Amino acid sequence: MFVRLLLFLMLCSPLVGRVQDLYKQHCMTCHGSELNRGLGGSLLKTDWKHLASDNDLQSFIASGNQRIGMPAFSDKLSEKEIRSLVIYIQEQRKSAAPAPITNSTLGNSIHSEEESFKIERICSDLKTPWSMAFLPEGGFLVSERSGRLRMFHKRELSKPISGIPKVWSEVQGGLLEIALHPNYPQNKWVYLTFSEKPEQTKGDPNGGSLKIIRGRIENLKWVDQETIFEVSESFYTNRPFHFGTRLAFKGDYLFFSIGDRGVQENAQRLDNPYGKIHRIHLDGSIPKDNPFVTDANAIPSIWSYGNRNPQGLDFHPIRGQLWESEHGPRGGDEINIIKKGKNYGWPLVTYGMNYNGTPITSKTEADGIIDPLHYWVPSIATCGIDFYEGAPFPNWQNDLFVAGLVTQELRRLKIEDGKILSDEVILKNLGRVRDVASGPDGFLYVILNDPGQIIRLVPSTR
Ligand code: HEC
Repeated sequence: MFVRLLLFLMLCSPLVGRVQDLYKQHCMTCHGSELNRGLGGSLLKTDWKHLASDNDLQSFIASGNQRIGMPAFSDKLSEKEIRSLVIYIQEQRKSAAPAPITNSTLGNSIHSEEESFKIERICSDLKTPWSMAFLPEGGFLVSERSGRLRMFHKRELSKPISGIPKVWSEVQGGLLEIALHPNYPQNKWVYLTFSEKPEQTKGDPNGGSLKIIRGRIENLKWVDQETIFEVSESFYTNRPFHFGTRLAFKGDYLFFSIGDRGVQENAQRLDNPYGKIHRIHLDGSIPKDNPFVTDANAIPSIWSYGNRNPQGLDFHPIRGQLWESEHGPRGGDEINIIKKGKNYGWPLVTYGMNYNGTPITSKTEADGIIDPLHYWVPSIATCGIDFYEGAPFPNWQNDLFVAGLVTQELRRLKIEDGKILSDEVILKNLGRVRDVASGPDGFLYVILNDPGQIIRLVPSTR
């Protein structure tokens, strides 16, 4: 029996070895050693509509897609080898499918370092939900990246709000952030950010960019639309990634982030809007005291630069500083405090390296560049952030919660005097964590992807 087993293992292992080697040699640099991270993104996603069958997957790997950066492999690998990779990927996908939130997860008390909580599912059946905004009249708005904006009220998810502009929904682009004007109860302004590909442009004819608009919602219709910010057409590009973007309001100012759109050098150029944090007034006008308004070549809305792909922004509830999270390359996700006119270093200094394993720079710090307050190697794929404010979890007061997409984590950073004292994983493996927000009820709301749903954490007894 033992000998038979040994023989069986010996016969099998070279096969297993070979497909893993193929993966390592040809795919790992862009899809990660665990198939779940990197420039090419995760191969373990559950919502693969365009690659529904094994044959779709086989022909996709063979022909690639040059525009989005996926190489063709038909001249490097035989059909048999590609087929074995297809099987290998499907095996890994099956074993890595996120643990569904079961009734037992929902019912159980989870004991973290400083608080015990239970998970409640608030709404499901969402498609790549991206952001949420709580409404003073109860419920919230939720954006889905494909371009739908919906309202959740009295346990019901509305049909999509009509009249929202057509978005460019591809890879990381689509309908992204939503936020309410600070005086929303009086003026009802809702702000949206999205990527767009207009039919006519003076820039790259296939290109598109990012836009911020505001409007009002009346009887599930989008009305009174105004453009608040748009990137000028000469900067349009058809790279469907690194859009950022988040919004954060402070007094009469609106801060927002845009990623480098896949061109590292953009982030250091003041005549380019990408890879920056911007500051404008709530109606889109440019504040006169912005740091680069007197530089004729600079984009006047720039507030800070050298920011790779920032997808989290929030103000510290007591100290009032603007905190930011940004995606690093391979390694080097960052948490920063954003200050006027400062350089955050991308790509001159970073704790990460290129996706193919080659270095970007040996430098992790330099004169004139602000160091991150905290960084993750390997990357967690930092997305939304939120300072917790609410009565139900007194020990979490003013702690920073950080969403991690790739590692499927919600993290809690304990902060004292602007320093990070500890970094705790609060949720793991319930799906990609896109955003986190303190609700008006004091509970902590979390947006999960794959499958798209919103849950909240409510206190439980130890
Ligand atoms: C040079 C980098 C690079 C390499 C090497 C690479 N890929 Fe990709 N791959 C990408 C990029 C970029 C995408 C597009 C990502 C996106 O759509 O978000 C992609 C997408 C994919 C997708 C579709 C994923 C999706 O969610 O739509 C599959 C499947 C895939 N790659 C398989 C492979 C396999 C198998 C190999 C090795 C034989 C490989 N890739 C090697 C960069 C790469």
